[in-house]
Amino acid sequence: MNNGIYDLIHRRRDVRAQFTGAPIPDEVLHRVLTAAHAAPSVGLSQPWDFVLVRDPALRHSFHDHVQHERAAFAATLSGADADRFARIKIDGVLESSLSIVVTYDPERGGPAVLGRHAIADAGLYSVCLAIQNLWLAATAERLGVGWVSFYREPFVRRLLGIPDGIRPVAWLCLGPVTHLETVPDLERHGWRRRRPLDTVLHHDRW
Ligand SMILES: Cc1cc2nc3c(=O)[nH]c(=O)nc-3n(C[C@H](O)[C@H](O)[C@H](O)COP(=O)(O)O)c2cc1C
Repeated sequence: MNNGIYDLIHRRRDVRAQFTGAPIPDEVLHRVLTAAHAAPSVGLSQPWDFVLVRDPALRHSFHDHVQHERAAFAATLSGADADRFARIKIDGVLESSLSIVVTYDPERGGPAVLGRHAIADAGLYSVCLAIQNLWLAATAERLGVGWVSFYREPFVRRLLGIPDGIRPVAWLCLGPVTHLETVPDLERHGWRRRRPLDTVLHHDRW
């Protein structure tokens, strides 16, 4: 057995604070995007698009919006949770080298998407698999990735000119990093611990 894939899966981290801002070589970015585009998809619909956001003005606008949403979430917290959240960094939009916004087009591959007639979300699942491929490939390339979801979809659609009906699924921050932490940030900050596998395992029936 080749342990490489398991090592990679466990080495992958969500990165916010370790971006160096160094450029990503074109051939590396191409390999990472090719890996994302090789993901499985319902009915072979490949319903994703990748918007590469380099423009500092766009990234600053998005970052301002993230700060606003962070404050909205913080306002729902109190006591120890509020203190803990205040110490947690939730994005590396400005420090990373590049942002990649991954979108979902429900019309792609239609009108008859094989395998989606009963589960509309299967298209969205496909986009998430592309994101995971991207994340793992980037890890293999010694890049960090951070998924930012502190945003409202209409804001991102307007900011990037994404057509109506197409959903932004993830704003990803990408780039070289000083290192990858061995423990997730949320666990390091005492926000939440990972569950052991046996707590989520069922046999035959739930
Ligand atoms: C759908 C999704 C949305 C996420 N949104 C954010 C986010 O907005 N900000 C953030 O700091 N981390 C975000 N994360 C990262 C998670 O916090 C992280 O994956 C989790 O704490 C486990 O850490 P690890 O990825 O390093 O193993 C997101 C992850 C996923 C899968």
